[in-house]
Amino acid sequence: MRPEEMGGAANGSRILHRSIGPKLPVAVEGRGGIIRDADGNTYIDASGGAAVSCLGHGHPDILAAIRAQLEKLEYAHTSFFTTEAAEALADDLVAHAPLGIARVYLVSGGSEAMETALKLARQYCVERGEEKRTRFVARRQSYHGNTLGALSVGGHAGRRAMFAPLLFEAHHIEPCYAYRHRRPEEDDEAYGARAANALEEKLLALGPETVIGFVAEPVVGATAGAVTPAPGYFKRIREICDRYGILLILDEVMCGMGRTGTLHASEQEGIAPDIMTIAKGLGGGYQPIGATLMTETIYEAIASGSGSFRHGHTYIGHPVPAAAALAVQQVIRRDNLLENVRERGEELQTGLEERFGNHPHVGEVRGRGLFRGMELVAERGSKEPFAAELDVAGRIKRAAMARGLCVYPGQGTADGSRGDHVLMAPPFIVDSETIGAIVERLGDAVDAAIDEARRAS
Ligand SMILES: Cc1ncc(COP(=O)(O)O)c(C=O)c1O
Repeated sequence: MRPEEMGGAANGSRILHRSIGPKLPVAVEGRGGIIRDADGNTYIDASGGAAVSCLGHGHPDILAAIRAQLEKLEYAHTSFFTTEAAEALADDLVAHAPLGIARVYLVSGGSEAMETALKLARQYCVERGEEKRTRFVARRQSYHGNTLGALSVGGHAGRRAMFAPLLFEAHHIEPCYAYRHRRPEEDDEAYGARAANALEEKLLALGPETVIGFVAEPVVGATAGAVTPAPGYFKRIREICDRYGILLILDEVMCGMGRTGTLHASEQEGIAPDIMTIAKGLGGGYQPIGATLMTETIYEAIASGSGSFRHGHTYIGHPVPAAAALAVQQVIRRDNLLENVRERGEELQTGLEERFGNHPHVGEVRGRGLFRGMELVAERGSKEPFAAELDVAGRIKRAAMARGLCVYPGQGTADGSRGDHVLMAPPFIVDSETIGAIVERLGDAVDAAIDEARRAS
């Protein structure tokens, strides 16, 4: 059914959509890596929305797991009961978690997972008698969610601006973003050490005894376009956190759960966090779900202290998303899909480099596994971004959709207000032929969008 046939308002919809503009196509069916709309158009879903649909659409094993759980029990409130589904997912997550992670708190998405992480970290300090710890340090050009706490630690100027008066004060250091911040005389290791040492400088300026934790995405997604850390950066960050008794809170909402080719992105950095958030690929879009994972030390401080975490929502530990997420994780392991993530990811990188390696407006192609980004620039030599009003990333998204391809655009890449990138996150089941089609359609879309932007300028 089309929106205008839905009995809606004059513009065809009663929904407050993300942007009140042209009508959106109505998605009616998804199979594997393809979404079909009500007009019969098909789209290669090369971004899984926002890096969500890790198994593609309509996977029969996940649908069966959801149905089975619904037939047993659709919901039970967590102040009265626990459920087999939630316990089984928590066991599975801990069994495959980074070293030291021992307990799980299940929520409904990434922002809730981050709110939980921030409050958990604060309560941990209070339980230990360190009430003076009230501050978080995070990084610019990062995204940690849209609720007020998550937005406060987020470092993207454009996304924060409207709500700035409502946010709590968080402290931001530079991101680890070699393309724009590495000095010509530095090698990657030297740059990584300098970028990480910015945390120590910030802690010393604030007084480390006032800081709760440091929050970072191991691979930066929505606000920077798959920016990977310099070698040694997170090892040094871990050392600094340990030295000053600061919690390391890793946000793997977008880059985690296999997206970069290992289950957790931090594995590739050789470190483990004190608290970690996951969402998106955890449930693969089959159900809304996120989780906050923590070490036994953090759990124990609450267990042997006040005995209750002062937090909670009606839908925490919901058994249906838990059953879906467990099935998603079991299918990924059963079908050895992380190997496909690594192999197809390399093919995607190579394909993009071949197509865009000499492109005058592609500054960098980057990322890991099936998490790849491409930064667009007005001028390659100077890395000058396009003017924000040209909306180059938005134009690429629209041009790609017109060619049957979904990629995820982002703006403010360079400094929070200027800069454009597109993010790709195809499903873990993607094949080589589809990778080729993604590169080809994106190539045409980028050329068409930049021509259009030039004519508009
Ligand atoms: C790194 C990161 N953290 C948190 C979030 C917030 O997740 P959600 O949109 O599920 O609330 C996102 C969403 O894009 C994200 O990319």
